[in-house]
Amino acid sequence: MQYIKQIDILRKQIKEYKKQGKIIGLVPTMGALHEGHASLFDAARKECDIVVASVFVNPIQFGPNEDFDKYPRPIEDDKKVAETHGVDILFNPEVEEIIGDNLLAFVDINKLSDNLCGAKRPGHFRGVCTIVSKLFNIVTPDKGFFGKKDIQQLMIIKKFVADLNFDIEIIGCPIIRESDGLAKSSRNKYLSDSERQDAAVINIALKHTVEMYNKGEKNAAKLTDAFLSTMFNIASAKIDYVHIVDENMQNVQTATDGNILAAAVYIGNTRLIDNHILGEQICW
Ligand code: PAJ
Repeated sequence: MQYIKQIDILRKQIKEYKKQGKIIGLVPTMGALHEGHASLFDAARKECDIVVASVFVNPIQFGPNEDFDKYPRPIEDDKKVAETHGVDILFNPEVEEIIGDNLLAFVDINKLSDNLCGAKRPGHFRGVCTIVSKLFNIVTPDKGFFGKKDIQQLMIIKKFVADLNFDIEIIGCPIIRESDGLAKSSRNKYLSDSERQDAAVINIALKHTVEMYNKGEKNAAKLTDAFLSTMFNIASAKIDYVHIVDENMQNVQTATDGNILAAAVYIGNTRLIDNHILGEQICW
């Protein structure tokens, strides 16, 4: 595996691969790699000749009171995970290399970023769209791999890629979970033992709500109430949002297959997100 920190060195290598007609896959990450990220590397490995992964904790997608400074950066561990899962190039630039001190151009998206995490984290998706566009322009991949764990991010990336004519196929990959159902996340590291136990209830609440939907309840308010009442007894939990949305991330009143049940919950000070696409099989 090549470990590259500079854009010009990466570009030279990519040009070489392109001359050889190689199909290039990109997996953008912020590191602290776990099995969720690894599943994206595996998917890219299956579908592409060259797998590029990026590890970059992107300052412009964090709000002023968020965890940019304390976000974990275990780069030596990350190198091992990436190498084990067949990554050919690990791109790990410094903030100055990517952002500089005078970034004036941004990529933003309307409507899809108005609700859910977009409403709760102003500017977050502008930061994500901008950094992902930069990575697309640097790596020029044929395919980009993203997790359904961050479903709003995935839908937003698909939409801006279509709207701005990026010639890149965006592939959404399944959510990877711990054995008790908690979605794997780099932020799970922040949880104390008791918070970790409480966090598992997010998934139990989702599952309970999806089961109600599967049994015939389609009223979105009743479904989200069921989620809230399951979480109610968890003292460390504070609900940031729970909604059922369509593909444009707009709340629906009547739920239907393909809609997304999405939730963000603070467990102590740690904000965790999870979701389920209604009509898809429950796989935990
Ligand atoms: P990060 O949170 O590191 O996630 C990188 C990718 O891994 C995203 O596509 C995310 O959806 C996926 N992922 C994380 N946990 C997962 C899980 N449990 N199962 C499946 N996939 C999972 O998302 C970001 O970084 C950033 O916003 C980024 C796109 C890199 C832009 O900075």
